[in-house]
This record gives sequence, C-alpha cells and structure tokens, in this order.
Amino acid sequence: MKRPLVVALPKGRVHEEAVAVFARAGFDLHPTLGETRKLVHDVAGLRVLVVRPADVPVYVEHGAADLGVAGRDVLDEDPRDLYQPLDLGIGACRLAVAEPEDRPVDERALIHVRIATKYPHLTRRWLEARGLFAEIIKLSGSIELGPLTGLADRIVDLVSSGQTLAANRLREVEVIMKVTSCLVVNRASLKLRGDEIDAIVRRLRQAVV
Ligand code: PRP
Repeated sequence: MKRPLVVALPKGRVHEEAVAVFARAGFDLHPTLGETRKLVHDVAGLRVLVVRPADVPVYVEHGAADLGVAGRDVLDEDPRDLYQPLDLGIGACRLAVAEPEDRPVDERALIHVRIATKYPHLTRRWLEARGLFAEIIKLSGSIELGPLTGLADRIVDLVSSGQTLAANRLREVEVIMKVTSCLVVNRASLKLRGDEIDAIVRRLRQAVV
C-alpha cells in the first residue's frame, strides 16, 4: 500500500485558516489544531506535519513533505524550487516598514540607519529599489522590540491588524509587499503521484473563496 501524502502546515496564525480551507475541500484536518506538542497527525487520509512557517518550503523542497502551505513572505525571502499551483488567499497581511511615531527617519539625511527584521533579503531588495542604505539586523521574532530598545531605527515586519505596531507606538511607513499563503508542491511528488496531487489541487481550488 502507498504511504499517505504528506502535507506540511505552518504552525501559528495561518494554521487555523489552512485547516478551514482544507475542510471546505473535504479534508478534515481539525485534529491537527488540538494537541500542540504532537507534530505528526494521520488524518483524513493524509499525514500532516505542523512545522514553523519558514520551514514549510524546506520540508517540501526536500521531499519530506509532498505538499505544504507557505506564505509569499517566506517563499520570496528564501526562494526554493517548488511547484506553486495555487494562491489559497489565506493569511492575508503585508510586509511593511515601520518606525517609532515620535522618531521618524529622515531618508535624505546621511545618517546611519539600522533596520531590524526577520527578512534580510526582502529588506535589502527594498533598500536597493529605493536607492537607500541601511544596516540590516536579523532577528527571529518580536521585531517590534528593535526600536523600543535602541537596537534599530526601523523595522521590516508583517502587519496584519496593525495592533502590534499601535501597542508599541510604531507607525507604518511603507508597504513592501502584500502577503497571502500558497499551496506548494514537491516537484518529484508531482511526477510520481500527479493524479492524487492534481485531485487535491482541484478540490482546494474550488474551496478558495
Ligand atoms: C507577527 C508579526 C507582528 C504581528 C503582526 O508576529 O511579526 O509582530 O504578528 O500582527 P498584527 O498586525 O495583527 O498585530 P507573530 O505573532 O507571528 O510572532 P513573532 O513576533 O514572533 O514573529
């Protein structure tokens, strides 16, 4: 008997929306939301891995998962060889530049600007496109702390409701890109198990609202 197809879902805020879209496509993955310590779930005829969002493309590119759900932010920050058949329209947010409300950066002044971010590649690309110079300081989370502690002058981070920025007295300066999550597929799996994968993609396409 064939092994079940392996699906990598991102832990955290997009997990629930991914489960909702899979449910509309006829795959009940709700059990994956319950036990947060359990990392592998055999449900709805699939094997579901719940991994850190930035790791989803890694699992799928290497074939440890056949399919996955990954944000445009993650896919553009660290491009990988993946088939990307479908924008699922979930996890909508934006990658934006922000700075303290009371300490705006003067982009024309020749001062040393430091930007804290989880996205050094996308930040570099934005700086180059704008003809700006800045030092990029890579952090792994709680980016908003950067300007509050004097570590950085600005941040580049995901903004969804805007509540985190407001709570930390930061204001959005510019949107770098709009972000949603996409279905990603391992290229070898697509060749070897194309019919099964096509069927899932078709059902998900109908489930996207
Ligand atoms: C994300 C992001 C912002 C926040 C934005 O962080 O990095 O901090 O959510 O959401 P909001 O605009 O709705 O407030 P997350 O909670 O994923 O954790 P992290 O800070 O560890 O990255």
